Amino acid sequence: MNTSTTATSTQHDTATMTAAIQRHYSGPEEIHVDTMAVPQPGTGEVLLEVHAAGVDRGVWHLATGHPFVMRFIGFGLRHPKQPIMGTDVAGVVTAIGAGVTRLAVGDEVFGTADGSFASFALAKEDRLASKPAEVSMADAGAMPVSAVAALQAVEDAANVRAGQRVLVLGASGGVGSFAVQIAVAAGAHVTGVASAAKATLVTKMGAERVIDYRTTDVTALGETFDVIIDAGSLTPLRRLRRILSPTGTLVIVGGEGGGFLIGGAGRALVAPLVSLFTKQRLRGLMSATSAARLRRVAALVESGAVRAAISHRYPLDQASEAVTDLAQGRIAGKAVVTVRARVS
Ligand SMILES: NC(=O)c1ccc[n+]([C@@H]2O[C@H](COP(=O)([O-])OP(=O)(O)OC[C@H]3O[C@@H](n4cnc5c(N)ncnc54)[C@H](OP(=O)(O)O)[C@@H]3O)[C@@H](O)[C@H]2O)c1
Repeated sequence: MNTSTTATSTQHDTATMTAAIQRHYSGPEEIHVDTMAVPQPGTGEVLLEVHAAGVDRGVWHLATGHPFVMRFIGFGLRHPKQPIMGTDVAGVVTAIGAGVTRLAVGDEVFGTADGSFASFALAKEDRLASKPAEVSMADAGAMPVSAVAALQAVEDAANVRAGQRVLVLGASGGVGSFAVQIAVAAGAHVTGVASAAKATLVTKMGAERVIDYRTTDVTALGETFDVIIDAGSLTPLRRLRRILSPTGTLVIVGGEGGGFLIGGAGRALVAPLVSLFTKQRLRGLMSATSAARLRRVAALVESGAVRAAISHRYPLDQASEAVTDLAQGRIAGKAVVTVRARVS
């Protein structure tokens, strides 16, 4: 295994690459392609030749600087600290930094990177796992952020079991489409909440029933669920608790909108406090990619239980449209930016 810092990185020392960047907090329509220096891997990092990069809500947050609190927690106070957009990645290792022991040049990997809407991207070794051989670069690139969040919500936070009644709000989204599949794989009876236009996708993911949030208030149906995963609504906790069984588990993944300072994160912060006073388990999720979690996602994919539902693909110079379309609700499941010309 190659542990040299320089053996393969020298060729990139003065090289440049194409990247989709945003230097100021603004709307995603400001994201544009520019020429940047190819970065050099530091300790514990690898340089990837990017093949595909998934689009997730986090990219919109990084581009816009909303909610404001994220500017104080390391993403850049006045402008994005990392101007290159994108986090999800699938690609090939082309150089390794000091201390990298698990990966070698030529490995095909997927995970999260620091600025993946580019020809090359840096990633920490412990945020990457081997790409399953039978999975395309596009599918692998669409998975990391959303599938890991879904895995943590369904398996780790809610411990979904066979026979349980599970409600997934935001079932047609990036996280939700994976959450439905992972819960179905556990043997649960899944109800998805999404717009009618995307109901077919949710059914294809394995949900037994789809409820259109635009016409039906799921909290007013008089039904209860053993587990509720909210990956898209801003439904107040008290209303969700009404349809949660007395010892059920609610996991708040997220929802868009909310106030200027913390956006839609309020419920996730309050949920654990309310949980202290009830037998219902109320959790707010703070997901994080790790090699171990990516390997669990890969195992689910290899077993045939889970796949990326990609509805839109964009070339790198249309990254702006990709993020805009996601923010406008035009994506069903996942969108992916294909960086290499021929990505299977
Ligand atoms: N906590 C964490 O660590 C973590 C990790 C990843 C993501 N997130 C957050 O989780 C949320 C979902 O992320 P995502 O990437 O899956 O976003 P996404 O792909 O845009 O999906 C959003 C989903 O929410 C649905 N939706 C919108 N309004 C709704 C409502 N009133 N009731 C029920 N469903 C509604 C959408 O349905 P239609 O499109 O059919 O209208 C869509 O299925 C975002 O807020 C994101 O920031 C949090």
